[in-house]
Amino acid sequence: MPKLNIVILAAGKGTRMHSDLPKVLHEVGAKPILGHVLAAAKALQPSKIIVVYGYGGETVKAQFEGEPLVWVRQAEQLGTGHAVQQALPHLEEGATTLILLGDVPLVASQDCEKLITKAADTLAILSFIKADPSGYGRIVRDGKADVTAIVEHKDATEAQRQINEVNTGMMAMPNSLLVQWLAKLSNNNAQGEYYLTDIVAMAVQQGVAVVAEITEDEWSVTGINAKSDLAQIERVYQQRYAQQLLQQGVTLKDPNRIDVRGDLQCGRDVQIDVNCLFEGQVVLGDRVKIAPNCVIKNAVIAAGTQIAAYTHIDDAQIGEEARLGPFARIRPGTTLADHTHVGNFVELKNAQVDSASKINHLSYVGDATVGKNVNVGAGTITCNYDGANKFRTIIEDDVFIGSDTQLVAPVTLAKGATIAAGSTITKDAPAGQLTFCRAKDQKSIAGWKRPVKIKK
Ligand code: UD1
Ligand code: CA
Repeated sequence: MPKLNIVILAAGKGTRMHSDLPKVLHEVGAKPILGHVLAAAKALQPSKIIVVYGYGGETVKAQFEGEPLVWVRQAEQLGTGHAVQQALPHLEEGATTLILLGDVPLVASQDCEKLITKAADTLAILSFIKADPSGYGRIVRDGKADVTAIVEHKDATEAQRQINEVNTGMMAMPNSLLVQWLAKLSNNNAQGEYYLTDIVAMAVQQGVAVVAEITEDEWSVTGINAKSDLAQIERVYQQRYAQQLLQQGVTLKDPNRIDVRGDLQCGRDVQIDVNCLFEGQVVLGDRVKIAPNCVIKNAVIAAGTQIAAYTHIDDAQIGEEARLGPFARIRPGTTLADHTHVGNFVELKNAQVDSASKINHLSYVGDATVGKNVNVGAGTITCNYDGANKFRTIIEDDVFIGSDTQLVAPVTLAKGATIAAGSTITKDAPAGQLTFCRAKDQKSIAGWKRPVKIKK
């Protein structure tokens, strides 16, 4: 196989996006459109990837810094042929070139492979059948069904406009031929543009075979021009991701109601209920069960753990057989060991909680180290912030904290300590003892009456 060069056309402004962000930086599955195209390109192991950029170029380049790409600027957009001409100095002799569009995020590697295989001695183009072909370049075939030309919509005759087979814009050819053809392009057409598609007629004239591979999968060739396209493609992307998960054996209560904006890895017998959102890198161990409406970002959740509804997890590690939620909020830097329980309206931040400890109701535990078998009563608050600095709370193994307790950090509750309900703890509590700190005198006033509403 000859070497492979890939040219990605991405100079388009994307006017119809009505956005300050360059079109190819808008995201599908939280990844820039161009990032999807690059991933597909890289999978083909080319010797070079050349990106033709224009509008918002510096922002686009910055986003992909460090990637082995050749960036070529097309200052003025004079057409797709002109765009490829800008890449000419970088094309390798004897190589095959594959042309991709930077705004087609679901581009399929299999389609590219087909084109590349054919392109050893022919011009291979990818086409599809469109019920309403308006706007697209039409694939013109002769009586023997051989491709003779691509005619752009604006240049097409009434009869040609009836053709339903259209050009996707993706094609592959030997560089030796591409170089000759690009030199001959003119802009003598309805749009005054240098059409890359004119190379088809040139090939035919020269006796070079042209093959059009028809793809069945329209989404894989759909370009993004407007926010409505972006929304549609996002849905298709999500549906396809969900299908992959189902194929791997993940139970999804409704594959239409899951969103993965990143990478979700699942073990065996994972169950995910409706309306869950996964962001960044998420790993779910065997038998993990996620109830409806959870948001889980950059997290590792070990085997057998169950997450109840409306739980929010961000940048955390959860051990095996843990129980979280409903309505738990696990913030960055938190680790929960095996068999831990975190209940409703509990917020954890940068807390390291050891095995079998329970924080079941209405608590805030931040900047804290919690040992094994600790019970944190309802409404316990670690006062970790004095308005300027943050301090840690250390809670050792087997501590029992009564409800409505404030732990004013820095403070340590030693092993086996018991804290009475309603305490405000400002000094270290010794091991094994009951510590309490609350108002001494409980009073009752006999004959006291509740106020009544004054009649006007
Ligand atoms: C092009 C094809 C048309 C095909 C359609 C598929 C030509 C002449 N026509 O149409 O046959 O049906 O794509 O969508 O090739 N671009 C540049 N520089 C330019 C012009 C375009 O980089 O000067 C890039 C755009 O950013 C985009 C791609 O090329 O990624 C296609 O451009 P677009 O204007 O969308 O396509 P058309 O020229 O209308
Ligand atoms: Ca155009």
